[in-house]
Parts: sequence; structure tokens; C-alpha cells
Amino acid sequence: MTSAVGRRSQIISLHTIPSADWHGPFGAAVPGDALKALESGRVLYFPGLAFSAEADGRELFLSGLVDQKAKNISYDPTSGVVKGTVAAGRERPRLQEMMKAFAAAAAQLVLDLFPRYAGGIDRARASYRPVEIAGREYSPLKDDKRLHVDAFPSTPTRGRRILRVFSNINPSGKPRIWHIGEPFESLAGKFLPALARPNASLAYLLAAVGATRGRRSAYDQLMLGLHDSAKRDAVYQASAPREEFAFPAGSSWMCFTDQVVHAAIAGQYALEQTFYLDIEAMTDPGRSPLRVLERMTGRTLR
Ligand code: SIN
Ligand code: FE
Repeated sequence: MTSAVGRRSQIISLHTIPSADWHGPFGAAVPGDALKALESGRVLYFPGLAFSAEADGRELFLSGLVDQKAKNISYDPTSGVVKGTVAAGRERPRLQEMMKAFAAAAAQLVLDLFPRYAGGIDRARASYRPVEIAGREYSPLKDDKRLHVDAFPSTPTRGRRILRVFSNINPSGKPRIWHIGEPFESLAGKFLPALARPNASLAYLLAAVGATRGRRSAYDQLMLGLHDSAKRDAVYQASAPREEFAFPAGSSWMCFTDQVVHAAIAGQYALEQTFYLDIEAMTDPGRSPLRVLERMTGRTLR
């Protein structure tokens, strides 16, 4: 196992962008280099890009705001609806305002950096993660402390990319600790051979009963298979190569979480915005997990 704790300059899975603004213009070389790094599976790290919750927003820094049954608080930027919280009274509109402002900032950041994505991108949910990760107990498949690539059981993407922007807003300066694992191809090479063949009838059934939003493609089934088998494999979890990085409070980062092997180990109070991106909007769709898995299986998966 490689660990790079405390040796930040050697973290090769990160590409650092010094900007402290959620909007452009960015320096001439920034977007081109960033796009290449992002699509090749690195994490874009913005050490000075802070998202400030309101000055008197202290009531938002309470882990008890999350509904016990939910993992995070979610915000739908299209409808403005907040879910997964027990916040009532004056916290509720404040929470909604904070998440709305973050969703807007994250969208502006992505589109100002990568205007070519504009034609193929959709904003999905934003989330607020006020619960400490360390010590939180989940079943293996729900445990994001284990290395994985993202794949959503109820939301098939049919090959679209999952792009996520994160910001650590911890008010007491605590970092958010991530492990960043091996390249996607290496993880896929280990787990793909043992996966069950995609099952079209099961996918049809799940969609028909409303268990999935639309039908899972063969691609979605394989991605879920990779997610699940990596998380279930104790030997892989203990021995897979990884770099550890502590994202400081007041910093932000983004990556394709369907490609970057990652685990969130510790930290409290982060905001996140998810986007779905057509692979045709990428500079190199050949780097998408869809195309990688199609090459590896010799099949069309969409
Ligand atoms: C994850 O996507 O696995 C969790 C990331 C985080 O909450 O920092
Ligand atoms: Fe994840």
C-alpha cells in the first residue's frame, strides 16, 4: 500500500488550481490543463476556493439536522426542494438558501471552466453532509469509507458521467480525509471477470416496479457490480494502492466519481453538487468508463 500522508507535493492523483473564485475568467492555461487532468481521472483540487455559509449560519452546523433515516440532506436545484432534514423554523430557509447558493456556485465553476460541457450537462441533486464520517457505521455497500467508484442503484446513467463538486465548509478547521485509489482500468481488470452477465429482464422488471428511475443498461449493471464487489472485498480494501489526502476546511475539489476510485474516511460538514454529463461532450469520450468497459468486454453496453 502506498500512503502519501503529509507529502502533498507527491500526490499524483490531484491537479491543483490556485483560483479562489467560483467563476471565470481563469488564467489562459488553466481550463485546458484542468480538462485534461479531469478526464484522465485526476481530482481537481482548489486549495483556496472556500464556500462561505452565512456569517451567522452557526445553526446550520449541527449534525442533528439530518433526518435519522437519510444519509445526507439533499437539495434539488430544479424544484428548490430540500429533503432528508428535520430542520424546521428558521433553520429550514437558511439551509435551503445555503444549498441553493452552493448549487449555483458549483454550476458556474464547472461551466466557466469547461464551456464545452454546456450542451451535454444536467444538474442533479446537491447534498449537505453534516455528519462526521469517522465512526459512522453502515452496511458494507453503503459504507463510503471503503474504496469504490460511484454507481447509483436507483438512478441508472446509461453511460453518462457522474461529475461531483465538493467543498469542505467545516467551521472548526477540520479537514475531510479521502483515499484516492488506483486507475479505473486497474480496478475494472480485477473485478470485471467475476461479475454476473448483465440481465436485461431483471433491469426491465426493476424499472417496471419503479425501483429504478429508467432502465439499467448493461453498463449500469457492470458499474454497480464494480462498486459492490470492490466494497465487499476485504482483502482489496486492506491492500489496494491508495493515496491519502486531507482536503482542508475552506478548500474545494471536483472529479468524475464514476472513474476516480475513492473513499471518504473522515470529516464533517461538506457540500456536494452532482452533474450528469454526456460522454459526447468530453474531449475524449474514449476515457469514459462506458468506453473502457466496452473495450474490456468487447461488447456494446449502452
Ligand atoms: C463518496 O462519494 O464516496 C463520499 C464523498 C464525501 O462525502 O466526501
Ligand atoms: Fe462515492
